[in-house]
Amino acid sequence: MLEIRDLCTFYGKVQALWNVSLQINEAEIVALVGSNGAGKTTLLNTISGLLRPASGHVFFLGQQIDGLPPHAVVELGISHVPEGGRVFPEMTVRENLEMGAYPYQAWQHRGETLEQVYQMFPRLKEREKQLARTLSGGERQMLAIGRCLMSRPKLCLFDEPSYGLAPLLVAEIFRIIQGLRDQGITVFLIEQNVRRALEIADRAYVLENGRICMEGPCAELLESDHVRKAYLGL
Ligand SMILES: Nc1ncnc2c1ncn2[C@@H]1O[C@H](COP(=O)(O)OP(=O)(O)O)[C@@H](O)[C@H]1O
Ligand SMILES: [Mg+2]
Repeated sequence: MLEIRDLCTFYGKVQALWNVSLQINEAEIVALVGSNGAGKTTLLNTISGLLRPASGHVFFLGQQIDGLPPHAVVELGISHVPEGGRVFPEMTVRENLEMGAYPYQAWQHRGETLEQVYQMFPRLKEREKQLARTLSGGERQMLAIGRCLMSRPKLCLFDEPSYGLAPLLVAEIFRIIQGLRDQGITVFLIEQNVRRALEIADRAYVLENGRICMEGPCAELLESDHVRKAYLGL
């Protein structure tokens, strides 16, 4: 579904991604794990069209998408839940959700999708008229996920959805992410919470200093000496 080939991304003269290649198949949860500063957000932003790669390519359903503007990437079916569950703070919950439905097809179906999102997150329905800035961290993360779903994506990109949340909420968010896969939505999950990510994903890639250094089924990575020492504290 998504194929990344030899991607290199720079900030000015500083190279953040070095020949990153990976692929994601339909209806998989694929994790990308790595420590702070490894380049995880840079990779997601390059897929979303927020950053342009210096070289390499991104293909989605056979179409080259690197170089497309972010709105065109969303229209093709890739939606991004940004780091920290960023939402529009001065808009209400409902307005935030409706903003997510701007692609033409999604706008046609926005009523129906809104009902599905409210079913998934009853707390958002209870708070639909509240300004997003008044939400708790967990509710904001749910709103960001809901807004992503409003575009009726085929592929969801999650940037550290568990960051800063209490363990119970982390478990809930991860359950929701697994539920998306069961609905046929493909997930690319970026996490510093390596153990949790490897527990719910099918396959994973490990990113270190902007380079993919390991990949494989999660069960294998959980057993690997390097992952155990470097990320699981074992
Ligand atoms: N806007 C930016 N300008 C310059 N350097 C950046 C910028 N954003 C990130 N970087 C650098 O790129 C590298 C990767 O950052 P990032 O992708 O945010 O990592 P991660 O999400 O894995 O924590 C880091 O060295 C970081 O300092
Ligand atoms: Mg990041």
